[in-house]
Amino acid sequence: MARIFITGSTDGLGLMAAQLLSGQGHTVALHARNDARARDARAALPDNAGVAVGDLSSITQTREIARQVNDMGPFDAVIHNAGVGYYGRSRVETEDGLSDVFAVNVLAPYLLTALITPPERLVYLSSGMHHSSDTTLRDAQWTRRPWQGSQAYSESKFYVTALAFAVARRWPTTLSNAVDPGWVPTKMGGSSATDDLQAAPVTQAWLAASDDSAARVTGSYFHHQQPRNPHPATQSPDQQDRLLEYCADLTQVHIPAA
Ligand SMILES: NC(=O)c1ccc[n+]([C@@H]2O[C@H](COP(=O)([O-])OP(=O)(O)OC[C@H]3O[C@@H](n4cnc5c(N)ncnc54)[C@H](OP(=O)(O)O)[C@@H]3O)[C@@H](O)[C@H]2O)c1
Repeated sequence: MARIFITGSTDGLGLMAAQLLSGQGHTVALHARNDARARDARAALPDNAGVAVGDLSSITQTREIARQVNDMGPFDAVIHNAGVGYYGRSRVETEDGLSDVFAVNVLAPYLLTALITPPERLVYLSSGMHHSSDTTLRDAQWTRRPWQGSQAYSESKFYVTALAFAVARRWPTTLSNAVDPGWVPTKMGGSSATDDLQAAPVTQAWLAASDDSAARVTGSYFHHQQPRNPHPATQSPDQQDRLLEYCADLTQVHIPAA
């Protein structure tokens, strides 16, 4: 049985993946943005291995989350699930002067990857929307363009997919993959979402813990347990290295070589 840490596991797909894995007998540690949400998470999954607390839009708090995770660890797998969407939102600037969509969806997974003792498996939540992305990093914080929430979200999912593949390249003994869970009716997906909610957490749980040979791969992008083609630029080593450099400049933290 595996020990698994899941970010953003108070609600939605993170909580569903936690419940699924716990029901399979795995040991799951949760994450919540604050103490009140940590209480909610404990109530939703009483059989947990601890709850790390901190807001992923803050670099300082994300570093603190990594410290808490290392205190609870080591873990066999980490699912980088937490994310913010775009419906009805204008650009929100974080305490670090970043777009919160970039901070939560890209920079936090980057920092946690760099600072948490490397597990055997890493899973990053992407989206089919990553295909419609500007891939240039020219204005990743949306300070020079009129805000377009859907485009900002798509770009963030492009970058986190490239991050998953960069880690797969950098850490050959770690299995690092990205997942499109489908468009499903969570708080983020909204009530109009048309895909199968029950199927949506299955692939990330499977990649985190299954001994199935199809799940023991790296550098792949999955939808419903099937490999899919990601945006080709996510697989470009140059593109990946530019992203790692950009995140290292923002945080002064590097993802070490294996
Ligand atoms: N739902 C979809 O249709 C869909 C489609 C494609 C990809 N995805 C991806 O799947 C992942 C999970 O999405 P979901 O639909 O389950 O979303 P959700 O229901 O909105 O849940 C998001 C989770 O992330 C947490 N979170 C958000 N911002 C945070 C922050 N600043 N600090 C700490 N925690 C934070 C939330 O905490 P609170 O509960 O406290 O808000 C919640 O636990 C995301 O990465 C999303 O981009 C979803």
